[in-house]
Amino acid sequence: MSKAYKARRTALYVPASNARALQKARSLDADVVILDLEDAVAAEDKAQARATAAALLKDFAPREVVVRVNAPSSQWHDADMAAMVEARPDAILLPKISGSEEIEVAKDKSGGVPLWAMIETPRAVLNALAIADAGVDCLVFGMNDLVSAMAGRHRPDRANLHAAMSLALLAARAAGITALDGVHNGLDDMTGFAKACAEARDFGFDGKSVIHPSQIAPARAAFSPSLDEVAYARRVLAAFDAQPGAGVVTLDRRMLEALDAAGARRVLARAGL
Ligand code: COA
Ligand code: MG
Repeated sequence: MSKAYKARRTALYVPASNARALQKARSLDADVVILDLEDAVAAEDKAQARATAAALLKDFAPREVVVRVNAPSSQWHDADMAAMVEARPDAILLPKISGSEEIEVAKDKSGGVPLWAMIETPRAVLNALAIADAGVDCLVFGMNDLVSAMAGRHRPDRANLHAAMSLALLAARAAGITALDGVHNGLDDMTGFAKACAEARDFGFDGKSVIHPSQIAPARAAFSPSLDEVAYARRVLAAFDAQPGAGVVTLDRRMLEALDAAGARRVLARAGL
């Protein structure tokens, strides 16, 4: 987290072909809106969705607005990139990439618009660090495509995805960028959703990809530090301030190291303080 920390607790996917959802998203409390041109948009709607996304980008401020273009290997990718260079979203999200080469190529087509990368193919998982180091601002874990590409099956506890989640998260941390967890498909499964959010938070993810308005508030809560966490972080920093230059200090008869001060600063940043 070397760059100025931006809260990305919830990233709401909105199909750019769905007028009603686009309208609704303007009133929803998501930190990030991802206008999707890819999987959520049928082939015959691609051109219209691209034009709609470009035209509506500015309507979602102050949220970050990211456009998920079609994959570099697809027939729509170059037109999507050209349209977004003109429209200038806060970032372009690249799906179904395999490695850093696609990031380098996309950089040349992006006109300086920041890039985000989906980690949703087996190669992307294994190349996650190179992808993160290639200059993207955020890694977005893509669960559905990955399970499919693994020839696996969905499990409620996501045990089959933990290794991939860790690799994506570690790559993001090594590069000092944000990492977002994937979606939760069960729209009415709020118990399972809360568990998935808590688990992702434990891994270190900064936020969750969400697909429905009902998922925003619980994800936001899960990725926001609690009042107790904020209060404790302030006490940790106060303990270090009270002993300038000390390598270790104590608080409530527990040893604290420099990493605890860094952790406390991270809690305050996550809380927007
Ligand atoms: N963003 C904004 N608004 C959304 C929304 C979203 N992702 N998903 C649903 N809504 C809106 C609906 O338009 C509806 O609004 P209304 O009250 O004005 O009619 C309201 O929330 C309730 O929606 P609901 O009827 O429960 O859902 P649905 O059956 O219309 O849609 C999905 C269900 C899954 C099709 C829809 O949520 C969706 O398309 N999600 C995003 C999918 C996506 O982008 N996937 C790609 C990434 S994996
Ligand atoms: Mg997908």
